[in-house]
Amino acid sequence: GTRVLQVDAVKPEPAAIAEAAAILRAGDVVAFPTETVYGLGASALDGEAVARIYAAKGRPSDNPLIVHIADRAQLEGLVSEVPAVAERLMDLYWPGPLTLVMRRGPAVAPEVTCGLDTVGVRMPDHPVALALVRAAGVPIAAPSANRSGRPSPTAAEHVLEDLAGRIPVVLDAGETGVGVESTVLDVTVDPPVLLRPGGVTLEELEAAVGPVEVAPAVRGEDPGERPRSPGMKYKHYAPRAPLILVDGPVMQMQDKIRDLAMEYLEEGKRVGILCSAESRGVYVAPVILEYGARADLGGVASDLFAALRAFDRHGVDVILAEGVPTTGIGLAIMNRLRQAAGGRVIQV
Ligand code: TXA
Ligand code: MG
Repeated sequence: GTRVLQVDAVKPEPAAIAEAAAILRAGDVVAFPTETVYGLGASALDGEAVARIYAAKGRPSDNPLIVHIADRAQLEGLVSEVPAVAERLMDLYWPGPLTLVMRRGPAVAPEVTCGLDTVGVRMPDHPVALALVRAAGVPIAAPSANRSGRPSPTAAEHVLEDLAGRIPVVLDAGETGVGVESTVLDVTVDPPVLLRPGGVTLEELEAAVGPVEVAPAVRGEDPGERPRSPGMKYKHYAPRAPLILVDGPVMQMQDKIRDLAMEYLEEGKRVGILCSAESRGVYVAPVILEYGARADLGGVASDLFAALRAFDRHGVDVILAEGVPTTGIGLAIMNRLRQAAGGRVIQV
């Protein structure tokens, strides 16, 4: 089975860190907390170790991994050049939830980058992650520690839900803070391109380095209609029940979700609603979960994935979710909700 090593989130016990680092040095994988989500790590210099990550997650082998470092000196060999824009962003946001995609260096195992000539690197802002990378003495490749297609884990329990028995150890330091994954920015091109919105916002990036291009996938596809048969037409990935995202002005969103809930309830479906604290009391449905207040999008980001996972335990047939504004961290929240919806987005 998978061993759980409790560690203090602020002052991690050296014995636990040493034990986990030894596993990494021996070529196996370890799940560990970062400030964003839990990661599943292996030495980025060891192709066989990295292959274990893909196997444990069931991850497609064409989706590259982020390399975690504890010290900028570790960029040596990892990347072949550091653009000026990257230097500036590292000064401002490392350690922190910002992954920079740069030209890869010779030391990176090809399994990390899936054959690309670039590599994503970040310095996580979590004492446990930093201590682990330091003790391992090598850069650590780590995707989020979930089964592929599931919401990223923001607590060790989520890691165990998905990976118990498939990995040797998880370092448990409680809940992560940011709650959504790091921002991924390609700095090999000018202007830089935002590939994934995350903990560092687009507004913060543009204030630091000027205009940033936003990859079209970040904002999702064109709006769709209410699908006749949720879960049939589209492939959904997370949570288990199909999720329909309703976006627009608050009152219209609430009206649409109330209408849809009524329709599904009449069809005999067990309806779940994911909404803001401000919408408390607006809906009638068997399962209503709040992701926090629209007035505090940081709080929403922090609780979003746990809320998505909670619907699995409530055994709902369909989930109706309220959108949030795409300002600040809202862009990352909406990106994750859109992906959970797998194309089932209704604009009102
Ligand atoms: O916050 C995070 O970034 C977490 C924690 C554990 O650090 N990690 C994480 O990893 O979210 P993962 O594998 O779930 O997501 C990595 C993302 C994917 O969207 C991947 O396609 C992109 O980063 N990525 C990695 N390397 C890339 C590269 N060379 N070029 C473009 N995209 C890359
Ligand atoms: Mg992931």
